Amino acid sequence: MGKVYIFDTTLRDGEQTPGVNLNKEEKLEIAKQLAKLNVDIIEAGFPIASPGEFEAVKNIAENVKGPIIAALARAIPLDIDRAWEAIKYAESPRIHTFIATSDIHIEKKLKKTRDEVLEQAVSAVRYAKRYCSDVEFSAEDAVRSDFNFLCKVFEAVIDAGATVINVPDTVGYALPWEFGELIKKLKENIKNIDKAIISVHCHNDLGLATANSLSAIINGAEQVECTINGLGERAGNAAMEELVVAIKVRRLPYEIGIRTEEIYKTSKLVSNLTGVIIQPNKAVVGENAFAHESGIHQHGVIQDPSTYEIIDPKMIGIPENRIVLGKHSGKHAFEKRLQELGYSLPPEQLEEAFRKFKELADKKKEITDKDIEALVSNQIRLIPEYYKLTHLQVVSGIGIVPTATVILSEDGEEIKSVEIGNGPVDAVYKAIAKAVKITHNLEDFSLKSVTGGTDALGEAMVKISDKEGNIFVGRATSTDVIEASATAYLRALNQLIMFKKT
Ligand code: KIV
Ligand code: ZN
Repeated sequence: MGKVYIFDTTLRDGEQTPGVNLNKEEKLEIAKQLAKLNVDIIEAGFPIASPGEFEAVKNIAENVKGPIIAALARAIPLDIDRAWEAIKYAESPRIHTFIATSDIHIEKKLKKTRDEVLEQAVSAVRYAKRYCSDVEFSAEDAVRSDFNFLCKVFEAVIDAGATVINVPDTVGYALPWEFGELIKKLKENIKNIDKAIISVHCHNDLGLATANSLSAIINGAEQVECTINGLGERAGNAAMEELVVAIKVRRLPYEIGIRTEEIYKTSKLVSNLTGVIIQPNKAVVGENAFAHESGIHQHGVIQDPSTYEIIDPKMIGIPENRIVLGKHSGKHAFEKRLQELGYSLPPEQLEEAFRKFKELADKKKEITDKDIEALVSNQIRLIPEYYKLTHLQVVSGIGIVPTATVILSEDGEEIKSVEIGNGPVDAVYKAIAKAVKITHNLEDFSLKSVTGGTDALGEAMVKISDKEGNIFVGRATSTDVIEASATAYLRALNQLIMFKKT
């Protein structure tokens, strides 16, 4: 059985999903869970992108043991220096450098010649090699590159010391049989290929990322780059859970180290922290992946699950025989459920989460997993409360003008604000906007119920932007939807302040 290395890029390409902006603590939380999932490589980020990104990658390199920790760098010394600075304390560091090799990119984006790109690729690998023995080189837009040129670049970078050569389908253009053929031909034509591993990195623009990655594996690729829940630029990357489960369920003859029973937890954690909701019919981890609607199907599954279920839910860690949590549940049961959902909170945060859980249990009879996730997902965001909501009063109804009174505290000082609006939320938002002295735009607001029932938690999501167009997302839950809306707005504003301060 050939080994296939799982290279997880949720924290790099996945973070390039529009609207996703993970902070240092969230990235570490996900990286720790990826280590439990036993991925071979974690691409922790792109350190040159910002000081915050650098710190987040460094934090992962210093604290996460087990997988190789990779950092991305363009094929220029400045990027490579920064990548190395961030990952040098990792147990097993890897520098991942890239440059585009397709004529479209070379001419239109880089405004260079093929010879210049070749030289830059080789110099970058040599430069990275001075720091680190494990160097991956990616030929961006490989699929649309001239085949002979691609072979020439790969051969040269392997001579320069690259240990992994990555073949990205950057724009998700390939068809499975073409992509498999490309990998096979690369193996046959690159003379020194025995000195490096072939990796693939498929985007999902045509919905073929998983199929293309599998086709590459059966044609000799030994590393696949993928993300949890298929996150990533545009339509995303190959979804790890799909790839791994396909290999396991169809018993393909490849050895992969993933602990599949950690998949469900990881998927939930990533969805909660990124705020990207998993589509209900998503393969493997979608809410409907194990739901049977039609009577005929339900009958079959009751007789024997194998009639309509090709994946055993236990295999991906979907917990069985759940105890229903409610106001009589103790901390131990609560903590256990949190762990099943992928959260391992430090003692003080656990205490706080348990307090909130008890508060909710007083208002709501049965507490579901979704309620628990909603309660704790904001908690590990660790956003300082520059502005704190200390008082909120809203008058609203038929025949009266909605009016909000808000009191915020900033460094112990009280700020009072009163506004009217086109509804209670509008009035509250106007009052908050007047009270805080921060230039920003409200980009998006949504309110949804976490579960069913009139006592359900309402979850508010607010997106704001600063003058430079940076996006900040705030989320909050409460059985009082006005309170959830106000808290979410303040969280987004506090994130903006934190960003400006760091
Ligand atoms: O899609 C792509 O080409 C990439 C590279 C940087 C590997 O993400
Ligand atoms: Zn990519």
